[in-house]
This record gives sequence, structure tokens and C-alpha cells, in this order.
Amino acid sequence: MTNTLLMRTVAHKGARMTFGSLKGVAVATALTMALATSSAHAAGGGVTVEAQDWSFSGVTGHFDKAQLQRGFQVYKEVCSSCHGLKFLHWRNLGETGGPGFSEAEVKALAAAAEVQDGPDDEGEMFDRPGLPSDSMGSPFANDAAARASNNGALPPDLSLIAKARGVTRPGLPIAPLNWLRDIISGDETGGADYLYGLLTGYPENPPEGFVLSEGMNYNTVYEGHQIAMAAPLSDDAVEYSDGTPQTLQQHAKDVTAFLMWAAEPKLEERKSLGIRVMLYLLILSALLYLTKRSLWSRLKH
Ligand code: HEC
Repeated sequence: MTNTLLMRTVAHKGARMTFGSLKGVAVATALTMALATSSAHAAGGGVTVEAQDWSFSGVTGHFDKAQLQRGFQVYKEVCSSCHGLKFLHWRNLGETGGPGFSEAEVKALAAAAEVQDGPDDEGEMFDRPGLPSDSMGSPFANDAAARASNNGALPPDLSLIAKARGVTRPGLPIAPLNWLRDIISGDETGGADYLYGLLTGYPENPPEGFVLSEGMNYNTVYEGHQIAMAAPLSDDAVEYSDGTPQTLQQHAKDVTAFLMWAAEPKLEERKSLGIRVMLYLLILSALLYLTKRSLWSRLKH
């Protein structure tokens, strides 16, 4: 199912509950109807974000390991100078369903980070190389230091950003269809679509007549269109070793996939469990039906 042309309205919101892979067969038909109807709608008012194709969307969605590794590289080489990932630990980078770095690679990545520890016997704090069990932390000692380096703006921690941002799509004419569509599609890639839109949404110049405050940058999808973060990515911002094209769009896609994994490292597990649960329920229903038939068949009409 591709819905690349679907335009969605951006909404800043907390993580939304998705029913993920528990998608009923019966409602699938309604989904097809609902999506068909919604793609005809251009987003009314507000900002629009274009839906992208993601390997992790849908019932059988999974992360592309090579993409996560490239995304991590983009995060490390570009974003990590301003943004932290404090809910992620170095060892997570080696877990299944993620970028899949080897144990030695994880150790080396952790060791390259300096971590403050202590106090030692003299009561002094000291720096030591990071361990796989350390949090990936934040580049700044505290929020005030982060603001001081960024013209007063706070670069948010990115651990959960892919879930903390999302989109709402234009309403369908029949209210229950919205409800069905949201359960089925879960809008679970809305956060990723938004992040991609944000990172690729820096036109050379703001539209004519738009008054930009000092030190701010125009962005097509950010709320109010003024963001303190300057365009962080460009073509060739990061050198890939696997021959993947080093375009701005590719960098944005890769880092977005990585941030999606960071926000939900167990996505693959959740989806495959969902499929198994659905299969189990289907088989159980068939068996119950057969049992019911054989029990009632003994009754004379
Ligand atoms: C030079 C510092 C700097 C770099 C490098 C940087 N950012 Fe930011 N970022 C900021 C600041 C500052 C803000 C807060 C913007 C504001 O409040 O207007 C921000 C905000 C954000 C937001 C939040 C947008 C929202 O909807 O609230 C995201 C997401 C983000 N950055 C992602 C990234 C990614 C991904 C990278 C790497 C490709 C990156 N940033 C690189 C400074 C930076």
C-alpha cells in the first residue's frame, strides 16, 4: 500500500497509542475505503507533510539494518553536537532489531565518548571513557548550557522525538471512518514523515512577504515556520561507505529511520507478535466454529 501522495496536517502532540499490528481482517476493507477517500482530500488549513514510504510501516514493517547504521552515522556526525539521546544506551546499538553493531563496535563507540563519573576517593568528579551500559547522554552539561550555545533555543533530546511528533489527517465525511482509519493506519509513521519534512523543509528563501525574526530560519513544516535550528543537512554532509547516494534527502531519510528505531526499539518484535496473535485467533475461531457445529449437529431439529 503506497500513500505517498497523501497530505497530512501536522500536529504536535504526545505519543499516541497505536494498535500497531493488531489489525482486524474485517476492518481492512474499511481501511481501503477510508484511505481511498482520504487521499482525495488535500489538507485543509495548517501545514502539510508528505507521507513517505518507510520500511517500518505496515503490519510486516521492519527496520533496514544498513539504513539504521547510516542514520546513526548522520546522528553522530551532525546532530549529536546539539542533540542528546539520553534514553538510549550504547549497548542498544548492538541489540537485534536495531542497527546491529557487533559487540566490539559497540564497545569502541562507547569508549570514544567521554563520561563524567565520580566522586572518587578525594570527592572529585572525573572523566572516563564510556561503557556500553552508559546512556548516550547529551552534548551539554545542562539545559542552560544548551540554550547558551544555541541563541537561547533548546535543542530537544531526540530519544523519543519520532513518537512525540505526529500528524493528523484531514477528517473524512463519515466520522466512524476516521476512527477506523486511525486504528488501522495508526498514523504510526506520522512522526517520521514530519521529521523528514522538517529536515528537508528549508527552502533557499522564505516566501515573499514572510517576516523572519533575527537568528531564525524558515521551515516549511515547523509550527509557525520559524525555527532556531539552521538546516543541519545538505548533500554530502556525511560520507557513506556503502555506496548509498549522499543526498540531503537520503541523509534525512536515514537519520529519521534511526530516530524512529530509537523511539521504538521493539517495533519489529511488536509487529511479529501481532501477526502471531492474529494467526492464533484465526485458528482458534476456526476450531471453535467446528466444535460448535459438531456439538449442535447431534440435536434433532
Ligand atoms: C547547531 C545545533 C543543531 C544541530 C547540529 C542540529 N540541531 Fe536540531 N535543533 C537545534 C535547536 C536549537 C532546536 C530548537 C529549535 C527551536 O526551538 O526553534 C532544534 C530542534 C530540532 C527538532 C525539534 C523540532 C520540533 O518539531 O520541535 C528536531 C526534530 C531536530 N532539531 C532534529 C535534528 C536532527 C535530526 C539533526 C541532525 C541531522 C539536528 N537536529 C541537528 C539545534 C541543532
